[in-house]
Amino acid sequence: MEKEQPGGLHFVGKKDELIEAKRSFRTLEGRDILIIYHQTVFYAMDSYCYHAGGALENGDIEEIADKLCIICPKHKYKISLADGEGIYKGTDPREKPPVPRWYSKGVKQRIHTVTETNGDVYVKLSEDTCWIESDFYQGEKGKVERAKAAAAEKKLSSVND
Ligand code: FES
Repeated sequence: MEKEQPGGLHFVGKKDELIEAKRSFRTLEGRDILIIYHQTVFYAMDSYCYHAGGALENGDIEEIADKLCIICPKHKYKISLADGEGIYKGTDPREKPPVPRWYSKGVKQRIHTVTETNGDVYVKLSEDTCWIESDFYQGEKGKVERAKAAAAEKKLSSVND
């Protein structure tokens, strides 16, 4: 299904189909991407969570601190849809008394650009050359790392049973 257009645009589907699906998984240039349609906007991000490679596809979406975030089903990490920021709740011990607030860990999940032309939707992969944590779980090496993370999780849950 992948068709690459000039300018690095990948055709990922018809707008109507992607809207109906709400979440769509695509592999572009060997990279696994999740395309999300939420409240009239398309988003695209690496499909495995930066924390331990959890599949974000079935994560709920909530608004947190004025940002729409996907919640990873595995350990509930929150990732902003627009920027890929890791969002967490913490307290500043210097505050008396400390009040829990939402903070950003910075960009943790690689975000890609979605465009639409005449009902066709395209994704352009991020060209940001700096390391973004979700890169760890992409490609062939990422597949191995995801399997390792899943095995470690399984071992942990059998110890806790
Ligand atoms: S793998 Fe996503 S929160 Fe741990």
